[in-house]
Amino acid sequence: MRREEGGEQQTRSVPMEEWVLRGSRVLMGNVSREELVFRKGRGSWLYTVEGNAYLDFLGGVAIHVLGHCHPKVTVAVQKQAQRLLHTSNLYYHQPQILLAEFLVRETFADRVFFANSGTEVVEAAIKLARRFGAATGRYDLLGLEGSFHGRTLGALSLTGQKKIREGIGPIPSGFSWAPYNDFEGVLSKITERTAAIFVEPVLGEGGVIPADPVFLKKLRTLTRDRQILLVFDEIQTGIGRTGSLFAYQDLDVVPDVLLSAKALGGGLPLGALLTTEELSAFLPPGSHGSTFGGNPLSCAAGLAVLEALYEEGYLPSGGARMSSVLWEELANLARRYPEWILSVRGRGMMIGLVLPGQAPEVKARFLEEKVLVNAASSEVIRILPPVNLSIEEIEFFIERADRVFASLGRPKGVGN
Ligand SMILES: Cc1ncc(COP(=O)(O)O)c(C=O)c1O
Repeated sequence: MRREEGGEQQTRSVPMEEWVLRGSRVLMGNVSREELVFRKGRGSWLYTVEGNAYLDFLGGVAIHVLGHCHPKVTVAVQKQAQRLLHTSNLYYHQPQILLAEFLVRETFADRVFFANSGTEVVEAAIKLARRFGAATGRYDLLGLEGSFHGRTLGALSLTGQKKIREGIGPIPSGFSWAPYNDFEGVLSKITERTAAIFVEPVLGEGGVIPADPVFLKKLRTLTRDRQILLVFDEIQTGIGRTGSLFAYQDLDVVPDVLLSAKALGGGLPLGALLTTEELSAFLPPGSHGSTFGGNPLSCAAGLAVLEALYEEGYLPSGGARMSSVLWEELANLARRYPEWILSVRGRGMMIGLVLPGQAPEVKARFLEEKVLVNAASSEVIRILPPVNLSIEEIEFFIERADRVFASLGRPKGVGN
């Protein structure tokens, strides 16, 4: 979608700095925020309260797979908001049934449980896996090093990053981690008490590292042989981001449980646990629930996102259409700045630029150029653009990236 020239002329009476100051006085400081206040989003662009346009290559952290305010999603939300907002899950409602039917039709799954976020569906999967294992006295869950599964107690206990688990006292027992992409490492961590293994097909927060397909295949054989559940956390990789609806569909490995969230709700809070008929029996009536999970508004938005992805030809395959152009341009960029960009990795529109360090400084330079990217670690710049990116937007990004890397000089510790 084209950037709106000149941006918006409204709400200029209160300067952005004043909004930042007001926000900084009343909001908790648990996240570090940029000093930016956005008011409007369209396609790949965000507009500040002062009308300045930013190219959004982060998409609300892997939410806006079709960009901001896709017309189909906006209209679906408007219509649903006028019809029905909430019923509780004590009753059926149409948007939830339609969305579940869509997911079941397009995946291995027979059954869907809806929640409001990624971390909540991880919690649901932890419960399902432990209830599944309980029949044979198994409660242990294996995660992978570098993984991220969420911030609630169960999800952070599973997360393979020490910093996420620190500072809150004892963590529930029954969790361990094996190295990513290391089958022998996984084997050495499996015990007779292991009930499930949780895997991100591409490590997201852990630095955009794709899983080796051979590793995943071996995990599938191992888990099937030992009756261990294979859970794919596709909260970041799903909904067309890596090329298919879910990454597993390109990897020839079918999990037992799949977790989706982020882009699924098109900007509204929505998570989904997908599984088979047989495994769904491990969450019988009363064993789990959510007041808001899968409410009519979020499900109507989710259905609109999926329908738009299919109607516009990004799915079932073809989601990577623009990503091949972007990947080529990024490879050229890397050739121009070999001291800065050591490699480009990821899948589809989930991409990491691997740097020798200083990723936070590089991110800050991108911000000065009015481009939003993220430092997944000190070595990785992560970009998560929408699948409907235009050639002009790719050119804009590359032109700004050139400015960023040309202005930086040599990386610290390299030749100086
Ligand atoms: C792979 C993965 N799992 C789980 C989560 C947690 O999702 P949420 O922030 O919606 O709770 C995230 C969030 O970044 C994620 O990337």
